Parts: sequence; structure tokens; C-alpha cells
Amino acid sequence: MDQIVIRGGRRLNGRIQISGAKNAALTLMPCALLTHEPLTLRNLPRLADVDTFGHLLNNHGLSTTIEGTSPEEFGRVMTVRANRITSTVAPFDIVRKIRASFLVLGPLLARAGEATVWLPGGDAIGGRPIDLHLQALQALGASIEVAAGYIKATAKGGLGGGRYRFPIVSVGATENALMAAVLARGSSCLENAAREPEIIDLCKCLVAMGARIDGIGTDRLEIEGVPHLHGATYTVMPDRIEAGSYACAAAITGGEVELVGADAGDMGATIDALRAAGVMVTATRDGLKVASGDGLRGIEIETAPYPGLATDMQAQLMAMLLLARGRSRVTETIFENRFRHVPELVRMGADITVSGRSALVNGVAALHGAPVVATDLRASMSLVLAGLAAHGETVVSRIYHLDRGYDRLEEKLQAVGADIRRIADD
Ligand code: UD1
Repeated sequence: MDQIVIRGGRRLNGRIQISGAKNAALTLMPCALLTHEPLTLRNLPRLADVDTFGHLLNNHGLSTTIEGTSPEEFGRVMTVRANRITSTVAPFDIVRKIRASFLVLGPLLARAGEATVWLPGGDAIGGRPIDLHLQALQALGASIEVAAGYIKATAKGGLGGGRYRFPIVSVGATENALMAAVLARGSSCLENAAREPEIIDLCKCLVAMGARIDGIGTDRLEIEGVPHLHGATYTVMPDRIEAGSYACAAAITGGEVELVGADAGDMGATIDALRAAGVMVTATRDGLKVASGDGLRGIEIETAPYPGLATDMQAQLMAMLLLARGRSRVTETIFENRFRHVPELVRMGADITVSGRSALVNGVAALHGAPVVATDLRASMSLVLAGLAAHGETVVSRIYHLDRGYDRLEEKLQAVGADIRRIADD
């Protein structure tokens, strides 16, 4: 397995192109299951998770064709076509690699009337149940059978539509329910739905395919089912988490970086946290400029569903705060077990104490390089960030987590002056 080696202490300066959003890509790709016409997605990030999702769609009988990269875009253009669905089973081999595979459940059910999906794997950041996905689909008329290790959902004669109120906000369950409801016979209403920008991206793509959805951007989505959807061409939104991660990289190294293509409108809570910590963030013609100010100061942050602070930014902001003056408190309210980066950061000289859902960070004057192990995608990025600021060499292993979610990470960081390279682990 490859490792990433970082020699820390360089200020990052320059421009970083932000890729298409992983979490949007992974919910837009399964939309292709909803129509026999082609769905062309532009600005797809080059990520292991996108490739894995492509294999999953191939397994259902869909063709996936990379049309190349358009010069004005950084990402790929892919056409996905579900002429015929040849299998309604999402096999364990693929599902275990990527939790988002579960997002084929709703669209397969809506188009083919049945779906069998093995229970998901993905990041080890807590229990990650799927009960809300199943309840929402049941409310739309699905019958669900839970067997050892897999879920079988059926809707003989198609889904009828229905009303469902999510007891807690779930991004994935909202996406599954939406993709199912658009082809249901009747109307549906999803209450306390997730409002993440990636959900808005999904809604816009579905509308471009002929879906009828009201309340886009709110927590109440009303869907009028249609008998058929058609093909479309849709551009994946910029990755707000990737942009936020590189903002932390600029801040922790005392540098100045322009995040080209970043959309400040989707990043409100992250920008607020950066500014509160003393980082200067300004909108530019091409995106966002992030510059370290007079030094970082400690802050209190708490994750929450959008428009609150994304749990996917928690580990990276914590890394940035390790070198801030004073104390910080980082509270995680979405996932339990999402502090697995803490022991690794402590090995690099960080002063962090975890108490329940909060981590107390006492800023230190310096970090030192160390061998560290990546545990999940965003945790891995927090180790890279700490490594960029640390004295000496940091070696990050198990970097397949990073490859799942950061498009051309070393290339982008090298271009702004980081000393970072990938080595093959023998
Ligand atoms: C998505 C994102 C992930 C992000 C998360 C929260 C993708 C591919 N992944 O994950 O990067 O960290 O949103 O913003 O888009 N829950 C239940 N039952 C369910 C479903 C969820 O109890 O059936 C709970 C979860 O355990 C968690 C909370 O709901 O505590 C939110 O999870 P959810 O929004 O569903 O996360 P994902 O969609 O898995």
C-alpha cells in the first residue's frame, strides 16, 4: 500500500483548482438508473469512489463512458446509460468498499420494482444505521425484507408515493427517498429532509431529467411522481469539503491560497469558523482567497446538519486549531466515533483531550512529524494538514482513504509549494 511523505514547514502560496464534489457525484450517478436515456455528468472528480460507483452501475447493466475532459473544466465528463437493467442486486464485493452504494436502492426500486443491496461498508465513523432509508421507502409503498447481511426491497406494480417525516436529518436517506419518489405513481412529501447543497444538486439534476419537485433547498420536499424521466447533461457542483480542507491547509501553514471554483455560498459555516479563528477569507472573481492573518486563535465549533458546520470539516478544522493561540472546543453531534484522528494527532505533539462528544484542544507552539495511520477519509486529511505544518517528516499510511475522496491531492498541494510525495510501500 502506498504512503504519503510530507516534509512540513512550507507556507502554501498560489492557486488550487477545486474539483467536482464527491458527495454530489455519488448521488448524481445513480440518477442514471431512473431512465433509459443517457445521463451525462460533467466535472466529475477523479476519485476511487467514483470509479467504484461506476463499477457498481456496470454491474446493474449500465454503460459508463468517459467522454474526456473539457479544457475549461478540471473534471471528467461521463455518460451513463441504463438502456436495460440486467441485475437488481448490488453485490457485497462492491457495496463493502463504498457506503454510498446504498444509493442505488431507491432508484432501482423505482425503475425496476425491486432491489437487493448488501449492507454497506465505507468509513468507520460510528454505527451508521440505514433504518431511515428503509422507513422512507416503506412510506412510499415499498416492502422491505431484511435478511442476514442484505436488504431486499420490492414494489410490485410500482411505488405509490407517500409522506415521510425524518426523525433526524439524514443526507443519504433523503437522497434515496427522493430518487424513489420521482417515479412513484402519486405525490410524495418528505419532511425534515436534509438541505445540504449536494441534495440541491441532486434535485436540480432530477428536474433537468423531467422530475417535478417543489421546496428545493428547504426541509420539506414535495414530489409529484412522473411516469418517465429523460436523459440530461448536468455539471457536478464544486466540492465544498475539498475547498474547506485546502483553506485549512493555507491557514495552518501561514500561507495564502486562492481556491479556484469554490462556491462561498455553500461554505457559510466553514467560512465563519475560519474567520472566527483569525483566517482572512475573501471572495474573488474565480472563487475564494484564504490567507492567514496575524496568527490563529482558538474557537468553539460544533457540527450540525446544513446550514450548520459540516461534520466532514470537523477533523480538518481541528488540525488547524492545534496551532492556534489558546483553547478550542470541537463538538461532534452527527457521528459517534469520529475522533479517530485524535490519537494520531497527539503523536505529532498535539494537546487534545476527548470528553464525550467534545474534544478540547490546547494550542501548542509546534507540531513534529511522525508516522501516522489514516483511519477514515476526513481524518486522513487532518493528518496531512498537521504534516504540512509540522517540523520534520510525516509519513501517512493507509492512504487509500485519501484516494477515495481527494482528487489529485499531492499534485494540487505540490503546485502551491508543499513538499509532499507518494511512495510505494514495500
Ligand atoms: C453523508 C455523506 C457524509 C457526511 C454525512 C453527514 C455521502 C456519500 N456521504 O453520509 O460524507 O459525513 O452525510 O453530512 O454523501 N442515520 C440513522 N439512520 C439512517 C441514516 C442515518 O440513524 O438510516 C444517522 C447517522 O448514523 C448519523 C446521521 O443520521 O448519525 C446523519 O447521517 P447521514 O446524513 O445519513 O450520513 P450519510 O448520508 O451516510
